[in-house]
Amino acid sequence: MTKLIVVAALAVLATAAAAPFNTGTGLLPTGSLLTSDAGGPYNLTLLPVQQGEVKSAMAARMNYTDADIVNFLTNVECTEGRFDSMGTLGVDFNDNLTLGGPPSIGYGKANLSPEVLSALTEVAVSEQGHGLFTRHAGGALPCPLVNYTAGFNDVYANIYGLAPGQDISVLFGAPFDPLYNDETFLLSVVFLEELGATGNKGLVSLLSNPVISDGVNGLATSATAFAAIERFLLFQRRENPVYPTNETVAQVFARLSAYRDAMDGPQFDDQGLLNYDPRFVAITVNDTNAGQYINNFPTDVQGLTFSRTPQMIINILTIGSPTGIGGFYPQGLNGNIKTPTGYNVTASGLQPFAGAAQDVEETVAQAGNVNQAPITAAGPYVVPGELDLTQAENGPLQTPSYTSRGYYPLAYQPFRVASQPQVMVGTPSGTTSG
Ligand SMILES: *[C@@H]1O[C@H](CO)[C@@H](O)[C@H](O)[C@H]1NC(C)=O
Ligand SMILES: *[C@@H]1O[C@H](CO)[C@@H](O)[C@H](O)[C@H]1NC(C)=O
Ligand SMILES: *[C@@H]1O[C@H](CO)[C@@H](O)[C@H](O)[C@H]1NC(C)=O
Ligand SMILES: *[C@@H]1O[C@H](CO)[C@@H](O)[C@H](O)[C@H]1NC(C)=O
Ligand SMILES: *[C@@H]1O[C@H](CO)[C@@H](O)[C@H](O)[C@H]1NC(C)=O
Ligand SMILES: *[C@@H]1O[C@H](CO)[C@@H](O)[C@H](O)[C@H]1NC(C)=O
Ligand SMILES: *[C@@H]1O[C@H](CO)[C@@H](O)[C@H](O)[C@H]1NC(C)=O
Repeated sequence: MTKLIVVAALAVLATAAAAPFNTGTGLLPTGSLLTSDAGGPYNLTLLPVQQGEVKSAMAARMNYTDADIVNFLTNVECTEGRFDSMGTLGVDFNDNLTLGGPPSIGYGKANLSPEVLSALTEVAVSEQGHGLFTRHAGGALPCPLVNYTAGFNDVYANIYGLAPGQDISVLFGAPFDPLYNDETFLLSVVFLEELGATGNKGLVSLLSNPVISDGVNGLATSATAFAAIERFLLFQRRENPVYPTNETVAQVFARLSAYRDAMDGPQFDDQGLLNYDPRFVAITVNDTNAGQYINNFPTDVQGLTFSRTPQMIINILTIGSPTGIGGFYPQGLNGNIKTPTGYNVTASGLQPFAGAAQDVEETVAQAGNVNQAPITAAGPYVVPGELDLTQAENGPLQTPSYTSRGYYPLAYQPFRVASQPQVMVGTPSGTTSG
């Protein structure tokens, strides 16, 4: 398919806010690569209509070239790969991968159990390979300066409702340290990994050259596989506390998921560690076990992973900085694709966090009222507050429900590990709405 850049088709999108769209009127707002057609987006009969919408999606590419996209990719792979490589092996990307990029800040060898170290070492060397791919593909710019301390602490400030510039030591007596243990490192690795998985998949549609596109598809599929391993390791630890918070892995994951989902625009895409939402590949709904189902593969009911545009990725990583400087990137990204500005040069395309009042997207719980009640072997099985933090149920359905798949495994039993007796979990006092 010829990839076209059509900016003029975009005006219709700008006014649509988060309301459902009429069939044939275009994509979900802010650069989502999905159509909102009720019969779409993968309906061959609708392709003549959707061709216009796909062209609109291509506007996320704006006037960027394949070289610009490969250079953007280099930023993302450097960010993920150097963190993983240092965290597991204690070695940074070599000079042929960094191409002179400066040492980053806040990375280093993590304090990991043998099991996690082993699994994540495979991921790390594969991530080095991703870095190599970007160099083979022609990515010629140095790795950007990344401040992981700033990036993760800015994200955690957001997910606990703190003001910019604060960190969670205000609440918990210590800042977030991604290298502290299995839980903190896995949460940090998968946070970045899933931006690679979804962002690389988004680039597959934006690239013109099929050879490069195929290579980037390989990055997306392997990153998705890495993320599934990371999710499974976290699922096994889902009731463990996350230092220094008093919340569990499942709950902190839910906050991180809600953050990424809010920062990438109004559409619903990101998913937590536990699954209960029937708009996705959910096994069930209205089930006493809801919230206990493992969610290793965050997909829609068709089993498809989702995509993000570069602008969405930048917005997430820079904590919504319009200049593209902030969060993980104190000097911004290298290359031409370096701001979250999407769709057209005047629209920012992405909402600030948290969303405006009319936003149908889920919001993130505010900090406060930490529930001191321990989780015991008798329950609760659903982490208090967790369902408030994962995807809300009031958004547009991409496809009606899991029932359209025709199979509902009634006998399916959730996997459960013995609860730890003294884990404190947070109960959000409410949600932010704008
Ligand atoms: C670009 O976005 C702005 C803000 O949403 C809008 O006013 C303008 O009409 C858009 N321009 C084009 C060419 O779509
Ligand atoms: C595909 O789109 C056509 C035209 O709108 C519609 O008639 C048909 O029902 C759609 N197919 C599905 C499976 O939704
Ligand atoms: C891309 O578009 C922007 C905004 O219109 C413009 O400033 C820039 O010069 C363009 N770049 C190229 C390479 O055409
Ligand atoms: C970098 O690449 C050059 C050329 O292939 C090679 O000679 C050199 O050994 C490489 N350096 C490292 C650190 O791998
Ligand atoms: C990195 O971030 C930390 C935490 O925000 C900050 O104290 C430090 O000055 C930053 N370093 C650089 C070089 O930006
Ligand atoms: C977290 O739990 C510890 C130990 O029970 C307690 O001392 C501390 O006050 C709790 N922190 C918050 C913010 O509730
Ligand atoms: C789940 O329960 C809600 C509230 O009772 C109800 O509106 C909804 O239809 C139920 N969904 C399913 C799939 O049973």
